[in-house]
Amino acid sequence: MIAVLNGVNLNMLGQRDPAQYGTLTLTELETQVYAWAAERSLTARCFQTNHEGAFVDHIHECRGWASGVILNPGAWTHYAYAIRDALEIVAVPKVEVHLSDIAAREEWRRHSVIADVVDHSISGRGAEGYRDALDWLREAIASA
Ligand code: DQA
Repeated sequence: MIAVLNGVNLNMLGQRDPAQYGTLTLTELETQVYAWAAERSLTARCFQTNHEGAFVDHIHECRGWASGVILNPGAWTHYAYAIRDALEIVAVPKVEVHLSDIAAREEWRRHSVIADVVDHSISGRGAEGYRDALDWLREAIASA
């Protein structure tokens, strides 16, 4: 089971700047993720919240069932050390995904406080970044 965690403001996809985040709604993105996972003989379980504590709770909880984690924490990426610390105690492979290319945007978005506790980072590939993350995790789980 792959945990797919989307954080703050990602429930507003479809209404956010399409040049950065594309036109899919979160429901459409999650539908796509479920299909991509199934094509790869994986099962995804998607979760979104705008509440940092709930996001942390979910990271703790998925230690019981996830064999891999894909997460896009939204703006928390850039400052939420509590999320970083929660991820550090998750032993399974973890991939950070950003729809936009955070390295090519405002200065404050260029730094990810979770980058050193995830195994792989994908940025600027739009929704396909989640597909690439599933591919990466499938390899990582198979070769573990
Ligand atoms: C984001 C990038 C973040 O800087 C931003 O705050 C988001 C989404 C992305 O997917 O590109 O909310 O994580």
